[in-house]
Amino acid sequence: MSAHRRKLGNYTHFWRLCRLSRWMIEYLKTKNVFVAGGMPSVTYVDRVALDLEKKLRTEIRDGYKVICVTGPTKSGKTVLTRHVLGRDSSALVNGGQVASSEEFWSLLLQDLRLPESETETGSEQASIGIRYLVSAQAKASEGVTQTFNNNNKKTMLEFMRDNDLALVVDDFHYMPTNVQREVIRSLKSEIFEGLVAILIAVPHRAFDAIGVEREMEGRFAHVEIPAWFVSELKEIPQKGFPNLGMQVSSSAVEEFAEESNGSPLLMQRFCSRLCHHYNIEETLSDPKEFNPSSNAVEEIFRDVASQFGFPTFEKLAKGPQSRSKRIDRRQISNEKALDIYQAVLRAIANTGPKEKIHYNDIRDELRKILVDSDVPQKHEVSSALGHMSGIAKDEIQGEPVLEWSDDFLYLTDPFLMFYMRWSQRSSGLG
Ligand SMILES: Nc1ncnc2c1ncn2[C@@H]1O[C@H](COP(=O)(O)OP(=O)(O)O)[C@@H](O)[C@H]1O
Ligand SMILES: [Mg+2]
Repeated sequence: MSAHRRKLGNYTHFWRLCRLSRWMIEYLKTKNVFVAGGMPSVTYVDRVALDLEKKLRTEIRDGYKVICVTGPTKSGKTVLTRHVLGRDSSALVNGGQVASSEEFWSLLLQDLRLPESETETGSEQASIGIRYLVSAQAKASEGVTQTFNNNNKKTMLEFMRDNDLALVVDDFHYMPTNVQREVIRSLKSEIFEGLVAILIAVPHRAFDAIGVEREMEGRFAHVEIPAWFVSELKEIPQKGFPNLGMQVSSSAVEEFAEESNGSPLLMQRFCSRLCHHYNIEETLSDPKEFNPSSNAVEEIFRDVASQFGFPTFEKLAKGPQSRSKRIDRRQISNEKALDIYQAVLRAIANTGPKEKIHYNDIRDELRKILVDSDVPQKHEVSSALGHMSGIAKDEIQGEPVLEWSDDFLYLTDPFLMFYMRWSQRSSGLG
């Protein structure tokens, strides 16, 4: 074969390979790869070192107990439960939509997939039950308010047990205490018969308050989901970007992981924003390298910060209702004067913010922001922080976002911290 023909042959081979590999690429939409707020598949991380899936699976298999899945806001409680259980083998009630007992049972009823024909059911007794469920479900979907007696509730739960459907109550902590208690009581005998029930909540003692453990007399299991490690967070971009044909610099991935504050939701969001930044909406046919500049990365952080954490911050910054107007504290920078709540929050933001901050650090930062004569006294700062703790406990849903105790301030919410870091620090602090 002449050199020319051999060369031509190689080219043909090369193009064939290219065409073949293009053909083999699975084109995915960016929004289905980085799923911020929904159920990820490509970027699902199993956190294998923690054995969470196995723990939950084991509890479900062992049965005969109420299983409580707890963890901080947006740490992956819903995602884990859904992944382990699958949507088809459960009936779900979202606690956030429940204000009364009637609403709880109506929502549960609406989520039950009932048999199409009665012949599928077994005994006469069971078919009476199914007939009731079918007609009650029709009413519920028309929005008719119904009351459910103990027998009706039992019929629903028995149907679930007979059909191997687990009951999942998501965001259990949002339900009023009396509904929580009633649900636990209704579940009790069915759990004894083998119904699987999973309650998902943030870990601020929601379950202690209503005495679930006492009520269930040892038939209670707890699966705890901790905040994410940096190495686990990094798995999200490591799985997602290659699926989009993107090779993103490790320094950007590292920075995303550090800024996520243990939250997979923030990581998913950063990654999808980066794709957006480069206008990538689906898998590239020719893989490409990306080295985002620090400006681009910071722009993403600022942008994401403005969507998360702001409502919480607003509540804290407003402070408690007060009849008298708060004193204006002048800033050294000549920017608009701040009241004590705004000034203290700005000072906290300027510490980083850190997760645990001593009073002295807050004082030092206040001195850098405010005109000397306007710096508040220790008892004033302490009182403002005490009020903010109260607001965090009573007026903000979920786990308290901050706590002031023994001259230390503890910040726990990744979104609040992220918001303060990127939207509240004095300019010039990076
Ligand atoms: N195992 C996971 N792998 C990848 N991303 C996850 C995982 N768990 C959660 N996420 C991300 O975090 C978001 C919030 O998760 P979710 O389960 O709704 O939190 P929670 O129920 O604890 O409030 C998800 O929409 C997803 O973007
Ligand atoms: Mg959830």
